[in-house]
Amino acid sequence: MTKGTYYLTTPIYYPSAKLHIGNTYTTVASDAIARFKRLTGYDVMFLTGTDEHGQKIQRIAEGKGLKPIEYVDPMVEGIKKLWEMMDISYDKFIRTTDDYHVEAVQKIFKRFYDNGDVYKGAYEGWYCTPCESFWTETQLVDGKCPDCGRPVEKTSEEAYFFKMSKYAPRLIEYIETHPEFIQPESRKNEMMNNFLLPGLQDLCVSRTSFDWGIPVSFDDKHVIYVWIDALANYITALGYEGKNDDLFKKYWPADVHIVGKDILRFHTIYWPIMLMALDVPLPKQVFGHGWLLVDGGKMSKSKGNVVDPVELVGHFGTDPVRYYLLREIPFGQDGLFNNEIFIKKINSDLANDLGNLLSRTVTMLEKYFDSVIPAPTAREAVDDELIKVALETPVLVEKLMNELKIPDALEQIWTLIGRANKYIDETTPWILAKDDAKKERLGTVLYNLVESLRIVSVCISSFLPGTSLKINEQINAEDTSWESILAFGATRSGSKVVKGGIIFPRIDFDAKIDELNRIREEQLKEAQKSQLKEIKPEITIEDFEKIDLRIVKVLECEKIKGSSKLLKIKADLGGETRQIVSGIAKFYKPEDLIGKKVILVANLKEVKLKGELSQGMILAACTDDDSALELPQIQGDIPTGSVVR
Ligand code: MSP
Repeated sequence: MTKGTYYLTTPIYYPSAKLHIGNTYTTVASDAIARFKRLTGYDVMFLTGTDEHGQKIQRIAEGKGLKPIEYVDPMVEGIKKLWEMMDISYDKFIRTTDDYHVEAVQKIFKRFYDNGDVYKGAYEGWYCTPCESFWTETQLVDGKCPDCGRPVEKTSEEAYFFKMSKYAPRLIEYIETHPEFIQPESRKNEMMNNFLLPGLQDLCVSRTSFDWGIPVSFDDKHVIYVWIDALANYITALGYEGKNDDLFKKYWPADVHIVGKDILRFHTIYWPIMLMALDVPLPKQVFGHGWLLVDGGKMSKSKGNVVDPVELVGHFGTDPVRYYLLREIPFGQDGLFNNEIFIKKINSDLANDLGNLLSRTVTMLEKYFDSVIPAPTAREAVDDELIKVALETPVLVEKLMNELKIPDALEQIWTLIGRANKYIDETTPWILAKDDAKKERLGTVLYNLVESLRIVSVCISSFLPGTSLKINEQINAEDTSWESILAFGATRSGSKVVKGGIIFPRIDFDAKIDELNRIREEQLKEAQKSQLKEIKPEITIEDFEKIDLRIVKVLECEKIKGSSKLLKIKADLGGETRQIVSGIAKFYKPEDLIGKKVILVANLKEVKLKGELSQGMILAACTDDDSALELPQIQGDIPTGSVVR
């Protein structure tokens, strides 16, 4: 008998995404929830997969001289391997290149069109390829993508549009009357205030400037916008618009979509509207978890601070990594990944608290009872508190997990582990063992410890599945069902424990930190090397001499209204005054520049920027991502107007 169905999804990953500990987090957290639901009696469908279409993938593949599918196939294998390494128990893996998905998405799109929700028009605006997002001029921040801060591209093409605005009032009402729909609560306000309430624009849902996507069945020069294609996976994976939709009937609506906060907008606005247009019920909940940061902020290749889960598991093993992610990052908020804290946690919580409890218990049973678990025939008052905590633990863990409070659930389990360790100190079995008359009491103490360990093991099985199996083996746990831990005493006396290895060897903190720091330095060097931009093709001295570089002195400088980037500069070029518009306002205050001598490209064709004439360009040194900029300055007495060569 199951308690019912439970359908949980992770986002489907871009095969191009560099898999780091941050994006691994989404799936590890989802796995813990899926396992817990299975354990507590639900018929679970846990879906994950890969999001393989779009301009970004096409470009990367072309850059490598490959067809998109040739590029994505091995990447998808890599993702599957990572999930295997992280012990992810997904029930289904969907690829958006799977035939059944492609066909279903075409049918879905056709229905949108036939129902009048999608119409043909022309798109004029901006596109962020890394995010696969459309933006209007006013949404851009400093001319860049408001989500990721990277440059956007001007896009103008014939396109189909989805009438998002038509459904906006219904969606607003739904969100307001279903407070559980967007979780955590703070994210709901963010979505309402930033996107829904200011008014939804119709969404461009097809592209014609590239072809790596699902063709619109009735107009095949268009491919369907990758987010429409991707979001549909949650229902096509269940057979919606396919040959057999039994799974759809059984599992939809989803109980929860787990997503990172960066993609919440797609899941709480576009996705519900797509479902409304299809007349399909909405998912019960979309949970937007926080961002995993490292010292120094966001992980990025250029900072050389990307934490690779494969390396981490290589150093520490799967369950310590899962433990850190699940216990240390408040589910729903941003959290920090830090090696020092990680190693301390392994040593204290896993090696000391849990590892020692197991090894002490099994060692004492081996020593005093020849490994045979005795019967608990001599109970004393001191046992009551341990048993009380052991009985409360599963109840509390279940309640917390139903609220998706993953770290709190783990904390509760560690309360029981702590209580059991305290029980050893209180009952001092090694002293009982010296007195033959206390043999029965000693047996009872050890029974209570094994039984507590069994309860711990069942409780942790959703979070640390490998560890739970190792514990079960050593204590020879026969019943590992959830029901069996709702009462105290399912451990069978007479069965034998099997002493095994240390489950979490202690880590030498200083040595490991040194080793990790060395590796990080190497990584940083590599990152710097790979950042060196390719040198442009060779030119001759004659080519160079066409550029007239001159020293100018800044006379006046002011900000240009309506632009956060541009400064208007009047500069002396040896008697002649030039007006130059320069994109350096983020790095220099106007007053700081007055009197400075800088280098001007003096023979550059004039242009107008924000309506202001610019007669030349000031040379600046800047990083690739425009995060830092500096003007080379002339400190000495060289007069204005002098040539730089
Ligand atoms: N393909 C889309 C999802 C489509 S779902 C219909 C996508 N893929 S992704 O590969 O870029 O991201 C996968 C998951 O990783 C997302 O939930 C994203 O939020 C998450 N994360 C990526 N970097 C992260 C951190 N640094 N920290 C936590 N989660 C992060 O988006």
